[in-house]
Amino acid sequence: MAERNEPLLLEGRELHKSHGSGPSRIEVLKGVDISVRRGEMTAIVGASGSGKTTLLQILGTLDIPDSGKLLFEGRDLICADETALSRHRNLHIGFIFQFHHLLPEFSALENVMMPGLIAGQEKEGVRARATGLLEQVGLGQRLHHRSGELSGGEQQRVALARALVMEPDILLADEPTGNLDSLSGSLVFELLGHLSRSMGLAVLMVTHNMELAASMDRTLTLHDGILSISKKQES
Ligand SMILES: Nc1ncnc2c1ncn2[C@@H]1O[C@H](COP(=O)(O)OP(=O)(O)O)[C@@H](O)[C@H]1O
Ligand SMILES: [Mg+2]
Repeated sequence: MAERNEPLLLEGRELHKSHGSGPSRIEVLKGVDISVRRGEMTAIVGASGSGKTTLLQILGTLDIPDSGKLLFEGRDLICADETALSRHRNLHIGFIFQFHHLLPEFSALENVMMPGLIAGQEKEGVRARATGLLEQVGLGQRLHHRSGELSGGEQQRVALARALVMEPDILLADEPTGNLDSLSGSLVFELLGHLSRSMGLAVLMVTHNMELAASMDRTLTLHDGILSISKKQES
């Protein structure tokens, strides 16, 4: 778990974002401030439609805010071009979406290896890391199963291993379902806690599971376009 003196990893300042146009335009984010420290585990909660996915997409540079600042280790990401952003995502961010987007015809191992291979990394090293991660999420016996034949919870764990294979600085998880979201004491949560302590992995997870949220360093609530601290308030 993060110490208060850990350096700031990700910083969003006064983030504003509207969706739609004309009369259907809605202001979703109305000046969100957020700071994430290295190794910090944060839950984000909020009603459906409150803008949690919008916020996560902006923090992951998959969407652009209308105004505001986004800094990663002090570097400005708003002005970066798409090539730089794509490199930034590849090197620093792991994503888990609500829908896992695995390639069903490929094995669990191949799916997890994919980001490393796309990045041009040496194959045996990628295979070793991918195998290790699949073992850590409890899928050591499923390496060569086609991902389309795995259960929903297993697929979500493959997606987690894939999100971690590039050894990112931060994991952005948007309402991960199945085994990821059900047991706060599960091996998945232990793995994230372990990576947070050993490698300084920061985790930002949108969840409806209050038990899971309570076991993280802090919970932030998105309400009416504003994000506020709802637990373990920093002094
Ligand atoms: N691309 C879009 N175009 C128009 N409206 C959108 C778009 N994406 C999201 N919205 C709207 O913005 C609001 C916030 O959506 P979202 O960020 O997905 O909320 P949450 O993840 O908290 O459920 C919702 O009212 C949604 O309908
Ligand atoms: Mg959402």
